[in-house]
Amino acid sequence: MSELSLAQLLKSATEKLPDSDSASFDARLLLANVLNVNCSYFYTWPDKIIAPALVERFEQLIVRRQQGEPVAYLIGQQEFWSLMLKVSPATLIPRPETELLVELVLEHVKASQAVGIDLGTGTGAIALALASEQPHWQLLGVDFNQQAVSLAQTNQQQLAINNVEFIQSSWLTKVALSYHHACDFIVSNPPYIDGEDPHLSAGDVRFEPKSALVAAQNGFQDIIDITKQSLNFLKPKGIILFEHGFEQGAGVRKILSNHGFNSIVTLPDLAGHDRVTLGFSA
Ligand SMILES: C[S@@+](CC[C@H](N)C(=O)[O-])C[C@H]1O[C@@H](n2cnc3c(N)ncnc32)[C@H](O)[C@@H]1O
Repeated sequence: MSELSLAQLLKSATEKLPDSDSASFDARLLLANVLNVNCSYFYTWPDKIIAPALVERFEQLIVRRQQGEPVAYLIGQQEFWSLMLKVSPATLIPRPETELLVELVLEHVKASQAVGIDLGTGTGAIALALASEQPHWQLLGVDFNQQAVSLAQTNQQQLAINNVEFIQSSWLTKVALSYHHACDFIVSNPPYIDGEDPHLSAGDVRFEPKSALVAAQNGFQDIIDITKQSLNFLKPKGIILFEHGFEQGAGVRKILSNHGFNSIVTLPDLAGHDRVTLGFSA
């Protein structure tokens, strides 16, 4: 086999990923991971030849990517809100559109010592982003999947963020009484996809756990459960914020209004799709 330079390896790998809309980027991220270097390395050393064992590892990753496995699972990490997070197939890969939830909490919660809960925390993405922005806030991240809780704790340790605690609980059922009527905000990107939605068998989502994605009642059940339980935990005029599907804004507004929330609004993500609905407790 003739030896290929880094530039040639990347070109050949990119051509093997016609189904990815980010083929060249995927190839660079995978090769950078194999070589344990930054992507800028390829611009500095395009002619470098690497050891056959490294080429083989890279080619194995390209085969898995060809089969649709998300790059984030292949390299074990994903950036969110400029924090590099460890990810695993135990939970969802954090998405850029979820950063809207973080922006909205920061915009609406002005108290310097706020208390907040991130329900269905997964990698800990939302809780860690908020805690990193507001070191005097007290954050609690909750997930019913113990593997996700351990992953979030690992991310917390790696990022040395101290003002968050992660616990295993089904929504608020095991959250301490000290949080009753003590929360300035409750934020959640819960499972909200209908079990029959064809998107579940396309793209990255195929490799993510259904328990992180699917909810009963056309995708609304977890939002209903969280809304009901939140009434015991929010302070008066506390804010609740949900990420949801682009066609679910009206449904989420109705759920919040039925439970006595006020000033309810739905906001779009950068692509212009309804993405977050928020409201304030009485
Ligand atoms: C859509 S993922 C969101 C993960 C993360 N917050 C993010 O935005 O990337 C939903 C998360 O909710 C968790 N979850 C599902 N049902 C739950 C429940 N009853 N109680 C707590 N967490 C739950 C899943 O394990 C998963 O980590």
